Amino acid sequence: MIGSPLPRLDGTAKVTGTARYAFEHRVADPAYAYPLQATVARGHITAINTSAAQAVDGVLAVITHENAPHLASTEDAELAVLQSTEIAFRGQVIGAVVADTSETARHAAGLVEVSYDPSPHDAVFTPDRDDLYTPDTVNPSFPTDTSQGDVESALKQSPVVVDHVYTTPMTHNNPLEPHTTVACWHDDQLTLYDSTQGVHSTRQSLAKALGLAPERIRVIAPHVGGGFGSKGQAHAHLVLAAMAAQAMPGRAVKLALTRQQMFSLVGYRTPTVQHVRLGAGPDGRLTAISMDVVEQTSRIKEFAEQTAIPARHMYAAPNRRTTHRLAALDVPVPSWMRAPGECPGMFGPEVAMDELANACGMDPVDLRVLNEPDVDPESGKPFSSRNLVACLREGAARFGWADREHAPRTRREHGWWVGTGVAASTYPVHVKPGSSATVRFQPDGRYRIEIGATDIGTGTWTALTQIAADALSVRVDAIDLRIGDTDLPPATVAGGSSGINSWGSAVVDAARAFRDKFGTGPNPGDEAQGTTPGNSAGERFAMRAFGAQFAEVRVHAATGEIRVPRLLGVFAVGRIINPRTARSQFLGGMTMGMSMALHEQSVLDERFGHVVNHDLAEYHIAANADVAGIEAHWVDETDPHVNPLGTKGIGEIGIVGTAAAIANAAHHATGIRVRDLPLTADKFL
Ligand code: MOS
Repeated sequence: MIGSPLPRLDGTAKVTGTARYAFEHRVADPAYAYPLQATVARGHITAINTSAAQAVDGVLAVITHENAPHLASTEDAELAVLQSTEIAFRGQVIGAVVADTSETARHAAGLVEVSYDPSPHDAVFTPDRDDLYTPDTVNPSFPTDTSQGDVESALKQSPVVVDHVYTTPMTHNNPLEPHTTVACWHDDQLTLYDSTQGVHSTRQSLAKALGLAPERIRVIAPHVGGGFGSKGQAHAHLVLAAMAAQAMPGRAVKLALTRQQMFSLVGYRTPTVQHVRLGAGPDGRLTAISMDVVEQTSRIKEFAEQTAIPARHMYAAPNRRTTHRLAALDVPVPSWMRAPGECPGMFGPEVAMDELANACGMDPVDLRVLNEPDVDPESGKPFSSRNLVACLREGAARFGWADREHAPRTRREHGWWVGTGVAASTYPVHVKPGSSATVRFQPDGRYRIEIGATDIGTGTWTALTQIAADALSVRVDAIDLRIGDTDLPPATVAGGSSGINSWGSAVVDAARAFRDKFGTGPNPGDEAQGTTPGNSAGERFAMRAFGAQFAEVRVHAATGEIRVPRLLGVFAVGRIINPRTARSQFLGGMTMGMSMALHEQSVLDERFGHVVNHDLAEYHIAANADVAGIEAHWVDETDPHVNPLGTKGIGEIGIVGTAAAIANAAHHATGIRVRDLPLTADKFL
């Protein structure tokens, strides 16, 4: 079963429209909540006049800081909704109107009059601010700075030096399904249908904020229309939905953020400024790697994107340095976006490697192979498996890299400059402890597998079914999988590409326990539990996935229009559970990487503190017309150390390195080196 391209088990339900997403769950006589948002970026509310809103026929309640319930914990400032008059960023939740239709709620929200005592705000992100600070750790708990050897002397003595600043813009997650919640208080129980990457983690966050025992909250999420990290943690609207439901016990309240609201309320990828310095000999052998990162966080809650982390693991060099500094601004709270850290953090260094290859007159594939480390460069630990070189070699062969002209700006076809580029990918292997699974033999002869995992479009329904069938040595139709509900055994969040590594290992453990106890002739009702086993291999090994991305780019000589006719990725990610759904993850990641390269950029208006292009008309993402040809491949990789399944995680690595490969190809096409994303037409003129 493992390794077979089983079609998505939830596919038919999804394409026929019967799969229920959060907002679509049927509840009797729902009310609708519409959030109120601050229109200043800093200051205090001095008055809220809700009378006009309350006078609208159909309005059931207007909730503000004046009448909101007191939260038990305000430790997480993002979730401390309606607890004071203070405004920390434009777009912050300052209330909600609840009405018997969503239209009425939205209309009445526009009638609420809010007076502010505004303070001067500061939303200007520049790397030379004098108030940059050093966070204690970077996401989730990595050292902020590292240093080995003497980078400054090594750079002084290096015959070849690359020294440039690379930037990535603020970008926003835009899952097709917006963030939605249906909340209902009934008999002192709070039930939520929520679009979340983790039912148990959502419950935990809400229980803490509301001061409820977790058992009194049930979170249900059978299908989730994408998350990419933005649904990995509870956000303000969840608390607001719970408050709205509390205001009308027994009646369910539906809350759906609009696309515009998502640009202030559900996190974003912070803008980064990456000063990368590489020192090398004339042969391209690295002597020094230095990466200093400056990025943005919010004043009320710190999120320190771990942008310099991949530079610690990619290439050998005796002298090394990485740093992270933050500017805390009056802006919305940044958070996870597909491959936080690795995704922006492989842009600067992988473009710098291309610049180094040019400076040394080397092929950029050969340069990377030359600097391949024997062990993890900073920890000195061996890698549990590392097949970057195999990915580069196989990718080069499949892509036709050998035919590449060495010099940039040499190939022109019908008015288009044509070039090719390469970049490496990497992503850490995360196995999260804390998931449990149950196997129960049913009267119908099938095995019920229960685990509170989520499927955010990644294929969890299918892959976990395959894993269970394999572990029990039965056909997939003998498995009855249940996920996406806190009534099921606890499971960790679908984040950090850790889902299958962690939940799958718990399912395998439960299946083994079941077979040990009951053999192959169980009776109905027989049941066994399993958990994600602890793994001390992380103490002995560095565990990461790797990949190589190749791109062909065309840039129009007259207009600067840029096209990507071809992307090809080869990945080394351990064992593949389902090649069909795995391929989808790589293609999705690479498409999102192309989107980052060509289009994505949230434009913050510093005068007001909000993102002006806050919808899909103006925040551009890659569309079908952008994708001409994408191929994803993987090398056979057996890693006995990562977990019992041998999987490394595949959800995020596909986005890593794509933008660098495209930028490198654009340079090869035009001779123009663009160091700031996105690669818009104006930059090639
Ligand atoms: Mo992913 S950004 O870890 O949900």
